[in-house]
Formats: sequence, structure tokens, C-alpha cells
Amino acid sequence: MRACGLDFGTSNTALALPDGTVLPLQPHTPEPRLFRSVLFFAEEEREVFTGADAIQRYLEDNNGRFIQSVKSFLHSSSFRATQVKGRTYTIEDLVAILLRRVRESAGAHLGEAPDAVVLGRPAVFTPAPEADALAEKRLRKAAEIAGFTHVQFLIEPIAAALAYEARLEKDELVLVADFGAGTTDLTLMRLGPSRRGNLDRKPDVVGSTGVRIGGDRFDAEIMRHKLLPKFGAGSTYKVKGFSHKRLPIPQHVLAKLLNWHEMSFIREKSTQELLEVMLDTSDHPAEIQALYDLVMDNLGYRLFRAIEAAKVKLSSEDVATIDFEDARIHLHEPMTRAEFETASRTLLDELSQCTEGLLAKHPEAREIDAVFLTGGSSQIPAVRELYVKRFGEERVRTADAFTSVAEGLGRASAWLTG
Ligand SMILES: Nc1ncnc2c1ncn2[C@@H]1O[C@H](COP(=O)(O)OP(=O)(O)OP(=O)(O)O)[C@@H](O)[C@H]1O
Ligand SMILES: [Mg+2]
Repeated sequence: MRACGLDFGTSNTALALPDGTVLPLQPHTPEPRLFRSVLFFAEEEREVFTGADAIQRYLEDNNGRFIQSVKSFLHSSSFRATQVKGRTYTIEDLVAILLRRVRESAGAHLGEAPDAVVLGRPAVFTPAPEADALAEKRLRKAAEIAGFTHVQFLIEPIAAALAYEARLEKDELVLVADFGAGTTDLTLMRLGPSRRGNLDRKPDVVGSTGVRIGGDRFDAEIMRHKLLPKFGAGSTYKVKGFSHKRLPIPQHVLAKLLNWHEMSFIREKSTQELLEVMLDTSDHPAEIQALYDLVMDNLGYRLFRAIEAAKVKLSSEDVATIDFEDARIHLHEPMTRAEFETASRTLLDELSQCTEGLLAKHPEAREIDAVFLTGGSSQIPAVRELYVKRFGEERVRTADAFTSVAEGLGRASAWLTG
């Protein structure tokens, strides 16, 4: 049996070996150890593209079907399958395509594809227990379709904790916080040399919790607070037949703009007709033209890449510009870090409440030795600041934000092979 650990993330997937090495699955990309969790079905070709290839192909050819953040749909019973080019793909099939590619590229490194896996899962996919169980069941099925014959789950923050523990020289009570693209997971756990290597680590977990807040939600807040007015929020249009009556843009249209994959669901005839009426009668025609092109030319993904790029830049600089030029959209919108923090206030408050909730439940939390922050969104300064304020700079630790979970899952997979 050949074992590995696999972190199937909302935006990045990574695979690690039992010694903790994270394999470079995407050579020729800036971060070869991260396999982007995306799929692209080109209009004209039979092959399904995944990872960096999928992004490249989609940007070259806007017509095919691009699927991102599949992990976010795993818990949703209303999302069972989708039609692509006349074929039905269940959500398990979509995830399996990604997991199989990752497994096979690991096989190319190892000489043989791994068949046993410790697969990460969020502490909480979603608060409803049935939906949470559905998500795990689907993920297991996908791993089996992808060719794994032994599948074990480990919650992602415990995995991150194991990566942190590998470097510890004395025992600690640690709060591990993983801020991903889709979820944030928190675990309070006892770690250290005296426990390392124990098969069952559940007794070491003091408590854990999670919330559906991640980088995708921060991107949505930038869209809401900075960009919606550029796409007609606040404008009015005139309804045919009612010569005096002016109406605001329907809320349901604006709500769909906060998330690019939702945006593709309003690209339909009824929206097109509504947009055409608005184009004729709007008091902000340039903004409605931009909205029309954003929706009808399917530019949501590209726009959100620009938003994400600005957000990432704001982690190291005080100002960033959201730059986006396509069709009749001309955006060059500066944003300061302070503005981003104001826009993210509700998310930051929720993260803080979630953390306080966990601490309040466990009296041991008063003796926390260290706080280990990981996941791409832990690089947002305001997120880090929450923990620095609460625990003091000296107790806050970080390591590789993108690979700790995979590394820990890999280390845990050593148990599978004994
Ligand atoms: N420098 C940065 N500053 C702020 N956010 C960042 C930075 N770099 C990456 N991100 C964000 O981090 C997120 C990806 O992080 P990560 O790879 O940990 O998520 P994931 O594991 O795919 O998601 P999840 O764990 O929720 O399933 C994205 O939302 C991305 O925009
Ligand atoms: Mg993750």
C-alpha cells in the first residue's frame, strides 16, 4: 500500500508524502506544489482540463465551461449534478476528476500512484449535521472513483496542527486557525514531543469549530462595497408602460454579482431582456453597459481575479488598484487597506466571535501557549491582527500558509501503512 495525504481545498489542492514532503504537482507554475482546484471543459475538445491548464485554457477561450470552488457545493443537496456538453456529471464525478489528476501526477513522481489517502475535510463543512455528512460522503465517493482504495478523513486544522507539531521541542496547548478560500477552521489542541506519533489524536483535541468564511467572502465584500456602484447599484430605470415610474436595479441581480459562479446563473433570457430595458432607460447608462457586458460576456471570473489580485496586494501594501479592462468595462479603482478593512468588518467580527465562542467553551483556553495561523487568508493583516490583539505578538506563529494542511495529512498517512 502506498499512502499519501491530500488537502482538497476550495481553491488549492496539495498532496504530501508520509514524511511531510509536499509534491510539486504543477511544474512550470510559480507555486508548483499548489494544484488549483478548477476544471475546464472546452467547447471543441474532449479533454477536460484541470489545475493551471484549466485556468489558462479558460482565459484563452471564454466559451467552454469553467468550474471553480466545487468543494463549496459538496454540502448542498440541491446541487447534485450538472450537464456539460450533453453529459451529466455528478458533483462526485467533478471532484473525482480533480483527485484522479492529482493522484496520477503524484504517481508520476513516485513510480506508482498512491492508493491509500488521508483526506482533509473542514472541521465544519456546514453547521447542519445532515448536510455536513452528505459533504463527507460525497468526498469519500469521489476519492474512491479517483482510484483510492483506502480513504480516511482528518479534519484540516488537526492536520495543520500536526505540521506545526513536527517542529515543536516542548509540549504546548495550541490554537490552530486555518483561513482558507471557503472556510475558517479553528482547533484547540495539545501538541508536542510527548504526544507526537500517537495513533489516535482525538484525545488531544480540546475543542474545534468552524465557519463558512474564507477568502471568497472577502472578495465578495470588495465587490459589494467598492464595485457594485460601477455596475449600476443605486441607478434607476423606467419600466415599459409606466411612463413615470422609475425602479432601482432588482436586488436579486445585485446579489448574484457578489460571486462569479452565481453570476453565470443569471446569464439567461429574462436577465438579458431586463438589461436591455435598463440600457434604454437608465439614468446611469455607462454603468448599465458595464453590467450588461459583465453578465452577458461572462466576465465574472476575470473580474474576480482582478479583485483577488488587489486583495492579495493589500496584504503587503497600503493601496492597491482594482484594474479591469474588457468589453465596455473600464475599471481602475484604487482601494486602501483601511477601506478593505471597513468593507470586511462584519467578516472580521464573525471570525472574532467564532474564536471567542470556542475559547469560552473551554476553560483550558486560558493557558494557550501559542496560536498557529495558516491558510492563504491568514495573510490578510486584519485577520492576523485579531489574534495578535487577543494573544500578543509573541504567541502568534505562522509557517507556509498554503501547505501546512497537506503536510500534516501526509504525516498522518504514515499511520495507514503502519
Ligand atoms: N497574500 C494574500 N493575502 C490575502 N489573501 C490571500 C493571499 N494569498 C492568497 N490569499 C487567499 O487565500 C485563499 C486560498 O487559501 P488556501 O489555499 O489556504 O485555501 P483552500 O485550502 O483552497 O480553501 P479551504 O481550506 O477553505 O478549502 C484564497 O481566497 C486567496 O485569495
Ligand atoms: Mg485549506
